[in-house]
Amino acid sequence: MIENNQKYWNEGYWKRVINNQKNSFKNKNWIDKYKEIINKVEGNSAVDLGCGIGQDTKWLIDNGFDVISCDISNIALEKLKELIPNSKTLQIDIRETLPFKNNSINLVNADLSIHYFCMKDTIRIFNEINRILTPKGILIGRVNSDKNEGYIREETKVIEDNYYYDFEKYFRLFNKGQFDILAKDWKIIVLNEDVITRVNKKKVLWEFIFQKI
Ligand SMILES: C[S@@+](CC[C@H](N)C(=O)[O-])C[C@H]1O[C@@H](n2cnc3c(N)ncnc32)[C@H](O)[C@@H]1O
Repeated sequence: MIENNQKYWNEGYWKRVINNQKNSFKNKNWIDKYKEIINKVEGNSAVDLGCGIGQDTKWLIDNGFDVISCDISNIALEKLKELIPNSKTLQIDIRETLPFKNNSINLVNADLSIHYFCMKDTIRIFNEINRILTPKGILIGRVNSDKNEGYIREETKVIEDNYYYDFEKYFRLFNKGQFDILAKDWKIIVLNEDVITRVNKKKVLWEFIFQKI
C-alpha cells in the first residue's frame, strides 16, 4: 500500500492550492498562543516536518529559530523558498528515518502533517521525532480529530481503526486513546481538542506539545 505519495501531494494538493493563490501567510499563526512555552525551549534548532509553503517556518524564524523545513513535495518547497528566500529546505518522506542525528534538534513542529499514516508508521514517526530531539526538546503540532463531521461517508474505506481512504487520500482521525499510545514516552505539556475554521470550514483538531523526557 503506497499512501499519499509525492505525486498526490504535488499534483493533487500543492499545484491546486498554489494555483488558487492560497499561498500567502496569515497574519495570526496558531502557534502564537503557545509562545510562552516555546520561548522556554533551550537552544534554537528546529525542524518543520511537512512544512508546506512555510506558514509555521516563517513564525519559527521570526521567533529566533534556525529552521530546516522538510516536506515530501518539491513544489511546496520551491514555493517556500520563493516566500522565505534564506530558508533551508529538505525534501524527505517522514515515514523514513529522519536525516538528523540523535539528540540534535530543540524543537520539531508537525502541523497537520502527521495524520495521514497507518498506526505503525505513526508510532514510528513519533519515535523518530523523539530520537532526534534533545532531552527536554519539544514536539508541537496539530492533527485532525475523530469528531470532525463529513470526513466519513458510506463509500469511505476503513483501512484500520481510525484510518481511512476517501477523497483520493488516506487519512487518520485522532482520539484520546491514540494519544495514550503515542505520548506514553513523552511528558505532555499541552493536549487540547479545539474547533477552528480553516479554508471556510469548521475543523476539529487536537493541538499538542510533548516534551522529550
Ligand atoms: C495539510 S498540509 C500542512 C502544511 C503546513 N504544515 C501547514 O500547516 O500549512 C500537509 C503537508 O504534509 C506534507 N506531507 C504529507 N505526507 C508527507 C510525508 N510522507 N513526508 C513529508 N511530508 C509530507 C504535504 O506535502 C503537505 O505539505
